[in-house]
Amino acid sequence: MLISLEKTNPSENYDALTRAVLPRPLLWVLTEGEEGYSVAPYSFTNILSTQPPLVSIAFGLRPGQEQKGTYKALHEKGKGVLHLASEHQKDDILKSGERGSFTLNDDDLVHDVDGFPPRIHDCPVALYCTYYDTIDIKNANTHLVICKIEHIYMNEEFEKETHPLTCVGATGVVTLHSE
Ligand SMILES: Cc1cc2nc3c(=O)[nH]c(=O)nc-3n(C[C@H](O)[C@H](O)[C@H](O)COP(=O)(O)O)c2cc1C
Repeated sequence: MLISLEKTNPSENYDALTRAVLPRPLLWVLTEGEEGYSVAPYSFTNILSTQPPLVSIAFGLRPGQEQKGTYKALHEKGKGVLHLASEHQKDDILKSGERGSFTLNDDDLVHDVDGFPPRIHDCPVALYCTYYDTIDIKNANTHLVICKIEHIYMNEEFEKETHPLTCVGATGVVTLHSE
């Protein structure tokens, strides 16, 4: 099968691209907005550079060209905590991808780095980031936000026992096991 992308619509492109480029990192991004802390999943993400240590998140727009809450919070507050999530957090991840469907519980938050929002307790990795730059991608409804990693929390058991969630295909949120 040969798919020629000049003939496809955006949703067909999404389907083809997410099947052809995989897996995608899944970052659960906590920011502080007008109504307190909130978290949402982002999967069009990756490492950009190690010196300085940069990661990127590609933000789509809501209908009516409205920017997402996480995008606004990163610009307004200049900080965010990007998490890898564990298998048992999958339902929460999916709920938090729907506006207004998920509320963070104070008991799940750990305030361990001064000057940054908290991290989520059960997540094996947390990247404490400052806002770095935004690239408005030419002819695309996407803004690439670049964040600089200032601190990394890593659970000691992470590489031995934890299988973080990642994205495969348009809707798959899975863990990758290599036996
Ligand atoms: C697994 C998953 C991955 C997602 N990845 C992205 C992404 O990379 N870019 C994006 O703009 N939205 C992505 N979304 C949608 C956002 O999470 C969703 O629009 C959310 O409501 C944004 O919340 P916010 O407005 O609080 O930032 C993803 C959703 C899910 C469930």
